[in-house]
This record gives sequence, C-alpha cells and structure tokens, in this order.
Amino acid sequence: MNMLRSFKIGNVPIDPPIVLAPIAGFTDSPFRILVKNFTAGLVYTEMISSMGVFFKDAKTFELIKFKENEKPVSAQIFGNDPDKLAYAASYLEEKGFDIIDINMGCPANKIVSSGAGSALLKNPGLVKKIVQAVRTAVKIPLTVKLRKGFSSGENVLFELSHIIESEGADAIIIHGITVEDGFKKDKEDWESIRQVKETVSVPVIGNGGIIKETDVKNMFEITGVDGVMAGRACIGEPWFIKSAIQFIDTGIPLSLLLSEKLNIIVKLVEMEIDEKGEENAIKEMRKFIQSFTFGMRGVAALRDKVNKVGKKDELMGLLRAFFEVKEAAV
Ligand SMILES: Cc1cc2nc3c(=O)[nH]c(=O)nc-3n(C[C@H](O)[C@H](O)[C@H](O)COP(=O)(O)O)c2cc1C
Repeated sequence: MNMLRSFKIGNVPIDPPIVLAPIAGFTDSPFRILVKNFTAGLVYTEMISSMGVFFKDAKTFELIKFKENEKPVSAQIFGNDPDKLAYAASYLEEKGFDIIDINMGCPANKIVSSGAGSALLKNPGLVKKIVQAVRTAVKIPLTVKLRKGFSSGENVLFELSHIIESEGADAIIIHGITVEDGFKKDKEDWESIRQVKETVSVPVIGNGGIIKETDVKNMFEITGVDGVMAGRACIGEPWFIKSAIQFIDTGIPLSLLLSEKLNIIVKLVEMEIDEKGEENAIKEMRKFIQSFTFGMRGVAALRDKVNKVGKKDELMGLLRAFFEVKEAAV
C-alpha cells in the first residue's frame, strides 16, 4: 500500500497527502510558509469569521493575508448564516485562495453560542443550506471539517457526511472525536473515520490524535483515508510532516540538531517581523518559543526572559544562548 499517494481536492493536487491543520493563533502566513517548506501538501488559514469578512473587520482582514509560496492554501470560514458564508467564500475565492473550508468543529463557547462551529453538528438542515449556498457561490473546491458529534458517544458523521457530499463538497475532513470529549487522545475514534471513508466517494482527510510520526502511518493504515491532517504536532515541530514522510519511507523519523532547530526558529522570527513589524512579531513569537522548547530543561527561565524582551536582537541573543548551552551539553 502506497500511503503517500497524492490525491486531488477538486482540481487541486495534494502532494504529499499530509496537511497542516487550521490552528487559531498559530497558523498565520509565516508559520504556514515554514511548515510548507517542510513539504506540507496543503496549509490552512485559521478560522475566519464570515461576519468579519462581510463587515470588513480589520482584524479579520489580517487573517486573510497569504503569500504565493504557501500554495495550495485553503481558507477556513466559520459562521451560521448561509448567505454570509457564501459572501465570505466568494470574497476569499477572489483573493486567490485555492480551496474554501467550512468549520463545523470548533468547540469554543463563543463560537458555539453563536450557532457556528460545532453547533452545526446538531443542525443537519442548516448544514445542508450552508453547503448548498457556499457551493453555489464559488467555483474553487469546497471542503467541510467536522467532528464526530457534539455529546460524548454521539456519531453524526454518517448523516452529515452524506449531506455534505450530496451538496457538492469536494472533500471531507473528519476529526474523529466529539466536542464533549475535547482533545483527549484516548477518545479519538479512528474507526468512525474509517466508516466515513468507506461510505463516501469524495476524498476523506483524517484528523486528531497525531502526536508522533507513527500516528500518521497508523491513521493511513487503520482508516484508509486519502490524507492525514496534523495540528499540534506541527506547532512544536514545524518539520513534523517531513519527519512523518521519512518515517513512513524508512522507519526512522527526522532527527534535527539543536543548531538546526535554532535556525528554524530564527527563520520564523524573521518572517514574523517582515509580516507584522518588530513589536508585534516579538510578542507573537512567545507562544511559538514555548511550543518549540516544550519539555527542554531551563525552559521556564527562558520563557520568563522571552516574555520581557521587545527587540529582535534581544530575543535572538536569548535563543542563541539557550540553544548553544544545550548543544554544548549534548
Ligand atoms: C489552539 C487550537 C486552535 C485551533 N483552531 C482551529 C481552527 O481555527 N479551525 C479548526 O478547524 N480547528 C482548529 N483547531 C483544531 C485542529 O485543527 C485539529 O482539529 C485538532 O487540534 C486535532 O488535531 P491534532 O491532534 O493533530 O492537533 C484548533 C486546535 C487548537 C489546539
């Protein structure tokens, strides 16, 4: 079985078939480019408010920026009004995105209470109207990302994936866990993903519980999906997709030197500064540095210092000192 076979979402080739998940607060344009350079087959914006697009909200428009070297790139939209979602999708198509994805999985209270994200899992009639409206509004491929269900034990995938497919979506992304079960690895139900793959004819991308390279291989083997989507693993290790590919090919994941990891962080700092200016970029980098150094000795002290700096040179100095001390100790 060649699990790294490319596939198409509509007319867009996904090669390799491992993609970066939308992660609010992280998957901005510089981070997407970084992960793309480690061979992601597709990258996603974080979820974009359809109301924000409709009302031309400045913060929403910040999320819409992308660069040509990210392509193919999918814009993920959220909302619960079919007309506003259709408007946003059409606007984003015009901006040059390759794919539109509709969020039907976000568990955040603010989103759910507005009837969007995972609240849609409870409303098949509205799911139908939304997919229909967005499908009519755009020519580029359309996908939907959904969770297994809302309440623990519930599985709405069979019903919803058939609605989504029959209304003309080009692929379905399944996070095989309910909203109530949150993000618990032991509750990830890959069997539910396999069942969808067996019953729909559009490509299926499996998501959830990808922590190590071996999880990517297992997801392909257990579910038979066309593609695998990795989220949190890429946040701590932007090279994760390349490593997973190497693991599938050779049985050995990538092993990077600390100096190579440092260079990757430095590259991200530089791209964030180009995109957002020094002050904002240095603030943005705090959360990334926390993920990149997760579990390393001395990280709490590094975090305290990083949280106090405001200039690129100071940040670089801290990072170099931290990584060089570590390299010397190896
Ligand atoms: C901090 C955070 C932000 C997220 N933001 C989004 C989002 O904007 N849109 C979305 O569809 N999913 C979002 N997700 C869910 C991920 O895309 C993904 O479905 C989930 O993390 C499971 O994949 P993983 O186990 O590989 O991380 C988010 C998850 C986290 C942890």
